[in-house]
Amino acid sequence: MSDDIGATAQKPRYGAPLASLSPSQIAAIRSLPSNRDVKPPVIHERRPVGNFVSDAYWSRERETIFRNKPVAVIPSAALPDPGSVLAHDGYGIPLLITRDRHGTARIFLNACTHKGAMLVEDCAVKKWSTVSCPFHAWTFGLDGRLIGVPREETLCDFDKKSRPLAELPCHETGGIIWGILNPRADADFSLVSDQITDDLTHLGLTSWTRYGYRRFEVDANWKLVMEPFLEGYHVQRLHINSIGPQGLDFFDDIVPLVERFGSHIRQISGRGKYQPDVLDDPAVNIRSVVTIVYNLFPNTVVITSPYYISVMILMPTATGKTNVDYYMLTETAPDNPKAEELYARSFAVIQDVFGNEDFKASETCQRGLETGAIPDVIYTGMEEAIPRFYEGIEAIMDEALEAAE
Ligand SMILES: [Fe+2]
Repeated sequence: MSDDIGATAQKPRYGAPLASLSPSQIAAIRSLPSNRDVKPPVIHERRPVGNFVSDAYWSRERETIFRNKPVAVIPSAALPDPGSVLAHDGYGIPLLITRDRHGTARIFLNACTHKGAMLVEDCAVKKWSTVSCPFHAWTFGLDGRLIGVPREETLCDFDKKSRPLAELPCHETGGIIWGILNPRADADFSLVSDQITDDLTHLGLTSWTRYGYRRFEVDANWKLVMEPFLEGYHVQRLHINSIGPQGLDFFDDIVPLVERFGSHIRQISGRGKYQPDVLDDPAVNIRSVVTIVYNLFPNTVVITSPYYISVMILMPTATGKTNVDYYMLTETAPDNPKAEELYARSFAVIQDVFGNEDFKASETCQRGLETGAIPDVIYTGMEEAIPRFYEGIEAIMDEALEAAE
């Protein structure tokens, strides 16, 4: 992206050597052939249109996955400081995320235990040590305990311990605050594997800072929003004038190395005209020569760029509606005009490419599929990561169906 334009000025300071990555990432990168030698597979993969347009299918996904399996809620960088609070409404459920003075993150329902009023209405980070309901000022600690009730003496036999905030299972790892959006669900975070945590930590997700944030409201099924981030096939075509061959021309028309870790997918591809001998240069910024993409089960995308990381959380609220939270993370906050200009330009380009090209394409696919024009969706060998990703989702959906029978 425009990050490459600033690369010359900023390279020594913001670059990352190959050795900064995890052993697994390094091994995968070292196995990449030259781009000219990459051979896409020939595949026979289709998915029914109902997976994208059927309310019944979305209801199953919601109950099986989005209410009972771990989902990313925010990157840790969106709530970095102890003693802070963030209201969150992306999943269509009012949530309150807190980080206490010891640094522990928790997720609650954003509802006062007096009579349900929303505790915090706007979604900006607050530096607070307690949360007080605007209605009657019932006050809670960041650990969810009810600690203050005005005129408490007028309540008969009332114990504040009996009315803490409703807490959701929460687990912070790999620079992501994960939650299970059902207060009665088991706190089983085993899907978030050590492998994924290790990879994300090596990319900097646990230490980098939030530079930019934007919420997109996309009129498409969440999987149609995810698909463009599982294939590079469209990059030369849809993005021809932006980041494709008539524009910034960052990427070859190749397939990435696709690996599945549990239900998560990692894609690694060489940028430009990649050849492995660039790895012999100890000064190389590895993020300028390869792109690493994670499709984290079920709904999160992490993409490396030379000087920033994109984290996108796709939050479905209906069959054909998805809120997308886009976060741009950088190693440090910009502390000079060149860095500020580089980051600002990258942020503008990426919002334009994702917002005006990828998400718009997802919306037109949704409308097209809803017409009944085609019986199923076909995936080419250039898109092999898409069915691999769906296999992970379908395995969990099938498991839940079998358990219910
Ligand atoms: Fe794209």
